[in-house]
Amino acid sequence: MDLAVIILAAGKGERMKSSFPKVLHNVCFRAMIHYPFKASQKLKPKKTIVVIGKNGKEINKRLEGKYEVVFQKEPRGTGDAVLKAEKAIKGFEGNVLVLCGDAPLITESTLKGLMNHHTKKRADVTILTCDFDNPYGYGRIVRGEKGKLLKVVEEKDASKKEKQIREINSGTYIFNKKKLFQNLKKIRPNNKQKEYYLTDIVELFCSKGLLVEAHKASNEKEVKGINTREELAEVEKIMRYKINKVFMEKGVTIIEPFLTFIDPEVKIGKDTIVLPMTYIEGNVKIGERCKIGPSTQILNSQIGNECEISCSLIKESKLFNKVNIGPFSHLRPGSLIKEDVKIGSFVEVKKSEVDKGSKVPHLSYIGDTEIGKNVNVGAGTITCNYDGIKKSKTIIKDNAFIGSDTMLIAPVSIGKGAVVGAGSVISEDVPEDALGIGRSKQKNIEGWVKKKKKK
Ligand code: UD1
Ligand code: CA
Repeated sequence: MDLAVIILAAGKGERMKSSFPKVLHNVCFRAMIHYPFKASQKLKPKKTIVVIGKNGKEINKRLEGKYEVVFQKEPRGTGDAVLKAEKAIKGFEGNVLVLCGDAPLITESTLKGLMNHHTKKRADVTILTCDFDNPYGYGRIVRGEKGKLLKVVEEKDASKKEKQIREINSGTYIFNKKKLFQNLKKIRPNNKQKEYYLTDIVELFCSKGLLVEAHKASNEKEVKGINTREELAEVEKIMRYKINKVFMEKGVTIIEPFLTFIDPEVKIGKDTIVLPMTYIEGNVKIGERCKIGPSTQILNSQIGNECEISCSLIKESKLFNKVNIGPFSHLRPGSLIKEDVKIGSFVEVKKSEVDKGSKVPHLSYIGDTEIGKNVNVGAGTITCNYDGIKKSKTIIKDNAFIGSDTMLIAPVSIGKGAVVGAGSVISEDVPEDALGIGRSKQKNIEGWVKKKKKK
């Protein structure tokens, strides 16, 4: 049978105390709705509908994939939210999977289990449930004789006895589409929150003799929802481990998975080691046999094989193979670092290209610069790329040697194999193979110290 997906994301998320929609809060670098959306897409649905609220437009920027958006202007409850998808789903026949945008831990395999259960039993609705040690806050699954499912009762509406129930409603369901929409309009907001509860459909189905089934998720770490900042932190921790586990299974060493922060969409090659307190985010690809970290941040960058990066920040840059960065370097957007290059301690590079085998080992600023092959840039060298009005380029050609503490005042060019004397202020081009030196001549005054002491 065909499948359609409805993801609910129009709630206010009041318990988050936030000025933007709950489902946009990040879990491991991605908006939390990214996860249920992605898991659902693995089931290859014919149609996916995301129900968003008043200020939910931002969701479009954060979700990659094919889906349709419908609006629920006022968050009048989960039942009303599903009803808002009716028009968009018209003409579709089959099963409808309903997911909550605030439950990111759900996996493809759990969804498949739910779907198989539903199909095998030919149920009209199958609810994904789970036994929680602490069920507080969730809707409880009320069962009657022989475990027959009777209804779902929300925390706020539950009696003392019902609150003892440990089996909770995960908020994930699969419905027979026709039966769902035939009954949805009959739901009334007769409850403490005056909302249209989707969960009331269970009792409604039961009263009509429709088949209501429950499928139990194996553990909490699949179905935990996020309503508060505290739950956000709890889920983030579970997700972080899950993501890192996948990398480890693919041959990446992660020394301390609870203290390593990796975006699930990142690619990392095998035998790469990631050390603690490292953040890898966005469109990042890292090669094989690298050593990344500790305390390193990489954003939207490409890293080749056998690179070493320690205690550094790398943004929108590209590193070829065998590059060595840090400790304490900052590669800003547009840095292109080729094979065997060393960018050492306390070096900032911006929008610059450093060719094969060159070294900028200590305390430098390299901006708007082209450095050729096998160049050595001495400690403390700075490219003065900005005159207060415009940015200019510095070019350092192959095999050049820049003495320590040099100021290269751009626009300026250092020829092939040229040498620049330490402590120079270079404002004119240095020709190929020449020595460029721009500092005042040293003067020694004999006996000066002794004379001074006598006074
Ligand atoms: C809901 C379930 C509860 C279940 C829990 C699982 C209902 C009535 N209760 O409670 O049984 O245990 O999820 O996490 O369904 N939403 C809308 N429009 C609305 C209201 C909510 O789109 O008018 C969306 C929210 O953005 C969210 C999801 O639906 O993604 C769930 O809403 P939420 O208010 O968090 O429901 P819970 O109180 O957690
Ligand atoms: Ca919730």
